[in-house]
Amino acid sequence: MSLGANKRVLSGMRPTGQLHLGHYHGVLKNWVQLQHEYECFFFVADWHALTTSYEDTRVISATVYDLVVDWLSVGINPGEATLFIQSRVPEHAELHLLLSMITPISWLERVPTYKDQQEKLRERDLSTYGFLGYPLLQSADILIYRAGNVPVGEDQVAHIELSREVARRFNYLYGREPGFEEKAETAVAKLGKRNARLYHDLRKRYQEGGDLEALERAQAFLEAQQNIALGDRERLLGYLEGGGKVILPEPQALLTPESRMPGLDGEKMSKSYDNTIGLREAPESVRNKLRTMPTDPARVRRTDPGDPAKCPVWKFHEIYSPEDVKQWVQAGCRSAGIGCLDCKQPIIDAVLKEQAPIRERSEEFLNDPDTVRAIIDEGCEAARSAARETLDEVREAMNLVYT
Ligand code: TRP
Ligand code: SF4
Repeated sequence: MSLGANKRVLSGMRPTGQLHLGHYHGVLKNWVQLQHEYECFFFVADWHALTTSYEDTRVISATVYDLVVDWLSVGINPGEATLFIQSRVPEHAELHLLLSMITPISWLERVPTYKDQQEKLRERDLSTYGFLGYPLLQSADILIYRAGNVPVGEDQVAHIELSREVARRFNYLYGREPGFEEKAETAVAKLGKRNARLYHDLRKRYQEGGDLEALERAQAFLEAQQNIALGDRERLLGYLEGGGKVILPEPQALLTPESRMPGLDGEKMSKSYDNTIGLREAPESVRNKLRTMPTDPARVRRTDPGDPAKCPVWKFHEIYSPEDVKQWVQAGCRSAGIGCLDCKQPIIDAVLKEQAPIRERSEEFLNDPDTVRAIIDEGCEAARSAARETLDEVREAMNLVYT
C-alpha cells in the first residue's frame, strides 16, 4: 500500500535527556495535534538510545520516565494516544530479527545517518552490529503497527524509505501464496455484490488507467470495512496493485516542519549547542538565561542604536510577540529608545507564560508516579496486543507456526 490510506500514526523519541522548547515547538505540538486526527502510537525508543549509549545505560533509564512526563505535560492525552516504552514490547525485537534475515547489509550501509553519525560521534565506537541495524529496528517499530504515517524530521526520511523497501521485499517474498488470484476473487465476492462491483471498478481504474485516486479510495474503503478477515484484507489490498498479499503496508513519512525555535545564541535550539531553555526549567533560571543572552554586538552602550536583524532576541520576538510589540522593538532598538533589558522583558513574560501550565502539570505527574506508571503499563499492553496481531501474521507468512 503506498498512499497512506492507513491512517495509523506512529513515532518515537530517544530518551537522551531533558526536553527543551525546541522539541516543544518542533515535535510535541505536532503530536498533540495529530492525536486528535489519527489513531496515534508514541513511544520511548530506549533500544535506539542504547545503540549509541551502550557504555552508560543509566542516562537512558534516568530519562525514560521523564520523557513520558514531558509528553503528558504538554497535553499528549493517554485517552487519545497510546504511550509506551519500546523495550516493554519485545515483539519489536522479534520482527527486527526476522526482517534482518531479508535485509541486505548494503541497504543499511548506504543509509546516510550511518556514516554521518559515526563521524559525528567519533569518541564512541559505533562500528557495532546494533548501530548498523538502527534503521532496521526503526523499520520494525513502524511495520509492527502497520502504521501508515510516521511524523519525523528531515533527518529521518531515509529511515522511512528503508522501511518501505524492507516492507516491499517482505511482501514480495512472503505475500505470494499459491492460488493468490482465486483466493483474492473469493474475498472480493465476500464483500457483497455492490461492494464487489465498487472494488472491481476502482481496481480496474487503477490498473488500466493508473488512477491513483481510485487506488486510494479502494484502500480507504478496505480499511473502513470492519468485517473482512485479516488475511482477506491483505489479499484485497495486494490484489489492487497486483503482486500478492500486503502483510506489511508501506509507511510514509509525515514530514514535521523544521522548528523555528531559536536558541539563546540565535542558532537553532539544540542540546549540542548548549543554547537551550528546558521545557520545564525553573522560572529563575529561565529569567536569568534570557537576561544574559547576547544581543546585537553593536549595542555596546545603552545609547548605541542597534539592528534587530543582527540580534538573537529578535528571533524570539518573531515567535512570541504580537505585531505592536515587534514594532516597538524595531523602532526602539534602531533609535536606542529602549534598552536591551526592556526589549527582553516581553520575551521573558511570554516564555514563562508558555511554560507555566506545562510546569504545573509536570509537577502533578511527578507527584503522582503511580498514575504515570499506570498510563505506561496500559500503553504497553495496548501496544503489545496490536504488535502481536502483526507478528502472528508475519510468522504465518514465513511458515514459522509449528502447531
Ligand atoms: N530514530 C528516531 C529519532 O532519532 C527515533 C525513532 C525510533 C523513531 N523508532 C522510530 C521515529 C520509529 C519514528 C518511528 O528521532
Ligand atoms: Fe536586540 Fe532588542 Fe537589544 Fe535591539 S534592543 S539589540 S533587538 S535585545
